[in-house]
Amino acid sequence: MHDYQASDARYAQMNVRVCGRSGLKLSAVGLGLWQSFGTEEGHDACFRRVAAAFDLGITHIDLADNYGPPPGMAETLFGLVLAREFKAYRDELVVATKAGHAMWPGPYGDWGSRKHLIAGLDQSLRRLRLDYVDLFYHHRPDPATPLEETVGALAQIVRQGKALYIGLSKYPADELRRAVALLHAEGVPCVAHQVRYNLIDRAEPEQSQLAAAQEAGLGTVAFSPLAQGVLSGKYAAGVPADSRAGRGSPFIARHLTDANVAFARKVQAAAAARGQTPAQTALAWVLRDPRVASAVIGASSVAQLRENVAALANLRFDAAELAALE
Ligand SMILES: NC(=O)c1ccc[n+]([C@@H]2O[C@H](COP(=O)([O-])OP(=O)(O)OC[C@H]3O[C@@H](n4cnc5c(N)ncnc54)[C@H](OP(=O)(O)O)[C@@H]3O)[C@@H](O)[C@H]2O)c1
Repeated sequence: MHDYQASDARYAQMNVRVCGRSGLKLSAVGLGLWQSFGTEEGHDACFRRVAAAFDLGITHIDLADNYGPPPGMAETLFGLVLAREFKAYRDELVVATKAGHAMWPGPYGDWGSRKHLIAGLDQSLRRLRLDYVDLFYHHRPDPATPLEETVGALAQIVRQGKALYIGLSKYPADELRRAVALLHAEGVPCVAHQVRYNLIDRAEPEQSQLAAAQEAGLGTVAFSPLAQGVLSGKYAAGVPADSRAGRGSPFIARHLTDANVAFARKVQAAAAARGQTPAQTALAWVLRDPRVASAVIGASSVAQLRENVAALANLRFDAAELAALE
C-alpha cells in the first residue's frame, strides 16, 4: 500500500471549487482516465499515477464506460485500485462516470435511451465495484431519443441511489437549457456540464455553453485543457515516439494540425514570460475562468501530473498576457 501524505499536505496543493449551485466540490484539477489507462499500461503504472494524483490533492476522477483501451478497462483498473488502496479514502473522492458512446453491440449499446443509460451505469458499477458513483453524465446528446426519456432515466438513476449528482456532456447551449429545466422539474440535482475547452477549442464554450451552464446553475468541467498535449509544445519538432500521437491514438489528429503546432509556439513564449511551462499556462488559462469548476487533465506520467498541478500557483492573467494568447 502506498504511504499517502497527510490530508493537510494533500489539500494544501489543491484549489477546491464548488460546482455550480450545488454542494458538490471538485478539485480544480481532475484526473481523466480516457487514455493511457488501459491494458497496455499495466496495473502498476496506472496505480502509481492515481496514487500520485491523490497525493497532489486531486480528488475528482473522471471516467466513462468506454475508456480504456479496451472499453471498460479504465473502470476495471480503477475499481481494482479503489478496492485495494483507496477504501479508506472513498468518501474523499468524487468518482464520475458516463454513458452515451458506443459500448456494446446492438441498438441499446449506445446513445441516450432509457435502456442504454440504466444498463450502462449498472455495468460501470460492477466494473468499479461500487454501489454508487458521485457524478453520472449523459456522455453526448442523442438526436434520436426524446430528451424526456433520457432525463427520465437520469432521474430514476438518482432515485435508485446509483448516482448522487447528474451531469451532461457536450450538449449545445439550447439543448442544455432544455435538459436542465426538465431535470430540475424532476427534482434531479444536475450540477455539471462537460465541454472541450482549451486555448484552441474555445469558440463554442465562450459564445454559448459557459454562459448557458452558469445561468442554469451548473459548473463547467473542462476536458482536454491541453488539447491532448499539443499545447505543451511537445510536437514542435515532430511527433515524439512516447507521445499520444506517437503511440498511434486515433483521437489526437483533430488537434495535431500545422496551425495548432504553430500556435503552441506562441503559448511557449507567453508561458516563458510568466515563468511557467506551456502546459501550465494552458491549464491556468482554462482555470482562470471561475465558471470552470474543474479542468480534467490526462497524464501519461507522474512527472506530468506534478508539472500540471503546479500551474495552480498562478492562475492570473493580465490584459497583455491574454492578448498574447489570442
Ligand atoms: N466528455 C467527453 O466527451 C470527453 C472527451 C475527451 C476527454 N474527456 C475527459 O477529459 C480527460 C482529459 O482529456 P485529455 O487526455 O484529452 O486531456 P489533456 O490534458 O488535454 O491531454 C492529456 C495528454 O497530454 C499529454 N500531457 C499532459 N501533461 C503534459 C505535460 N505537462 N507535458 C507534456 N505533455 C503532457 C499527455 O499525453 P502524452 O504524454 O501521451 O503525449 C496526456 O495524456 C479525459 O481523460 C476524460 O476524462 C471527456
